[in-house]
Amino acid sequence: MTFVRVCGADELEEDTPKRVEIDGTPVSLVRTEGEVFAIHDICSHANVSLSEGEVDDCHIECWLHGSRFDLRSGKPDSLPATRPVPVYPVKIEGDDVLVSLSQES
Ligand code: FES
Repeated sequence: MTFVRVCGADELEEDTPKRVEIDGTPVSLVRTEGEVFAIHDICSHANVSLSEGEVDDCHIECWLHGSRFDLRSGKPDSLPATRPVPVYPVKIEGDDVLVSLSQES
């Protein structure tokens, strides 16, 4: 599993998603509840950026129609989205945030 550095840990504000790209793949980084999560940045319902949504209770809400995706699993817990979005493993090494594009299920 190959991890790449995506940003500094101090660049992530609590509950404020940060969009990054890894080899052209858009990823939303979210620091919340003492952890950092990486979730694919495109909603599974339509082509909009999840990083523009709000974070609450370890979920990120799509700003367009309101589906909420679990940051741990990528699964939506509310309609209209029915398909999960990929989530990616995260490592913190010192001041660096690293992400692997290998998917966790
Ligand atoms: S585009 Fe995200 S829920 Fe519709």
